Amino acid sequence: MTAQIAKKLSAPFPGIWARSYVSSKVKTDPLYGAVYEELRETGLPLLDLGCGMGLLAFYLREKGLNFPIHGLDYDARKVEAARRVTGLLGHRSLSFDTHDARGGLPEHVGNVSILDILQFFTPPEQETLLNLAADRVLPGGKLVIRSGLRDDSWRFKVTVAGDLLAKASFWMKAAPTHYPAAADFERILSPHGEVRIVPLWGGTPFNNHLIVLEVG
Ligand SMILES: C[S@@+](CC[C@H](N)C(=O)[O-])C[C@H]1O[C@@H](n2cnc3c(N)ncnc32)[C@H](O)[C@@H]1O
Repeated sequence: MTAQIAKKLSAPFPGIWARSYVSSKVKTDPLYGAVYEELRETGLPLLDLGCGMGLLAFYLREKGLNFPIHGLDYDARKVEAARRVTGLLGHRSLSFDTHDARGGLPEHVGNVSILDILQFFTPPEQETLLNLAADRVLPGGKLVIRSGLRDDSWRFKVTVAGDLLAKASFWMKAAPTHYPAAADFERILSPHGEVRIVPLWGGTPFNNHLIVLEVG
């Protein structure tokens, strides 16, 4: 099943590099499967902040979730790729726009996802973004986050090295700025609802965790 999805989702991307990246991401990273498990019972629209090339949206569609998804990313090349692939796959109710999340967020009510982007923000920017995102979650909805957590582990050091490599290879526009700690999420998000934090590194060496805010 995962191999089939990886094949289907990688095929529309142009160039061997992008296709290999998409295929390996879907096959080896537990991220999209974990987000699917969090959202499988919902019909609420999803706002995906830092959506990249729209992989989460395409993965959720392959898994049969049909709620509207609006992806935002400040990298116009990735937004363009996401739009092109949406057309090629014939999906409806998926939209992607170029937007810098440091400049605020559009109106939205439903669920929100923030996957692997917080490290590009300063601590005050992270706090502002998390509060803005939490304010957009409907009662009964979720804010689903993945982030590398700042701690003393070897995994954290590998996480930083991986993000620096992504910048050096021009895959990311920016180098990492600051990694939040588990306590930061508890402090900022607890006033909005229940917070859960669990490891989410699968077979990868990174210090990634899934952070879920459930708004009651
Ligand atoms: C590691 S990628 C993750 C992409 C996607 N969330 C996923 O998991 O497949 C980080 C993304 O965050 C985007 N990003 C970084 N800073 C941003 C900002 N200030 N506003 C919007 N997007 C941003 C980058 O362009 C990149 O696409």
